[in-house]
Amino acid sequence: MDKVQVAGKAPQMEQLEAGNTYAWCACGKSINQPWCNGAHQGTELAPKVFRAEENITAAMCMCKQTKNPPYCDGSHMSL
Ligand code: FES
Repeated sequence: MDKVQVAGKAPQMEQLEAGNTYAWCACGKSINQPWCNGAHQGTELAPKVFRAEENITAAMCMCKQTKNPPYCDGSHMSL
């Protein structure tokens, strides 16, 4: 199994728009965090693709250890 890279030790706030589809980087290698830029290619990892149900400001996981992807669940605090 390919190792996930920690992209940041705090969540990143992002404005999500209702109806839009997003691809959250799960591997941590993207230089366009928290979004996938294809850098996972060649690994077994894949982005979490999701659709925003409402206009919200969301805390996106940057440490890539969350149990509730793509959102922060506080896992970065135990790194
Ligand atoms: Fe990280 Fe695509 S670049 S999941």
